[in-house]
Amino acid sequence: MAEKNKKLRHVGFIMDGNGRWAKKRNKPRTFGHKKGADAIIDVLEECFDSGVEVVSLYAFSTENWSRPKDEIDTIFDLLGTFLKKYSKKLFEKKSRLVISGDLSPVSKELRERCERLMADTAHFTDHVLNIALNYGSRVELVRAFNSLKDKQGDITEEDISGALYTKGLPDIDLVVRTSGEMRLSNFFLWQCAYAEYYFTDVLWPDFNKEQTKKAIEWFYSRNRRFGGIENA
Ligand code: FPP
Repeated sequence: MAEKNKKLRHVGFIMDGNGRWAKKRNKPRTFGHKKGADAIIDVLEECFDSGVEVVSLYAFSTENWSRPKDEIDTIFDLLGTFLKKYSKKLFEKKSRLVISGDLSPVSKELRERCERLMADTAHFTDHVLNIALNYGSRVELVRAFNSLKDKQGDITEEDISGALYTKGLPDIDLVVRTSGEMRLSNFFLWQCAYAEYYFTDVLWPDFNKEQTKKAIEWFYSRNRRFGGIENA
């Protein structure tokens, strides 16, 4: 249901292609993840400066546990380092951190850092950074349905939306997936029901402010076309 001149409130990024980026340079996959983590800062800045309210990042899926242990450890280390570095920005920009996913299997240190930062930024309303960590949309939906099973009367869409990790956030308007793959990969299936999908061959470590701007411009051009006759 794309609407004419719909405002871009929520962008979701499926950050794909770190491994291929590294392989092209004869480097280990972990090097690609490091560069991928570095790329996030500029992408967030461009989104928030362009008026986007919520950015969701797919950092680690429930399926990613099948990767080699050193790669998993690197991704979690990068997340910890990123949160340490980015926490200052969250306060500066009055941005709330949301972590979507089950934190119970991650290290105590990372879990506590996430929980502390979520609690300390919970009152901010200017922007939201939502990180999908040990996240899978089907698991999220099952968890939501189970939490509603004792509800009296019919379950509504609002009940389900309110039982997801993204409770209170607007639906995703734009999904950006890098590296040429055209799949949703269990990324916020419920929240993406009306999203536009932007696929680019650019590998995530090369995704930058310019690329972000292009995706945002594409979203607005797409919605204008969908709305039919301008000024009607
Ligand atoms: C997909 O590329 C990327 C991931 C599974 C991990 C994404 C993680 C980061 C960018 C770093 C940590 C996150 C944050 C929020 C600081 P891939 O490894 O599947 O690439 P490939 O398809 O080329 O192998």
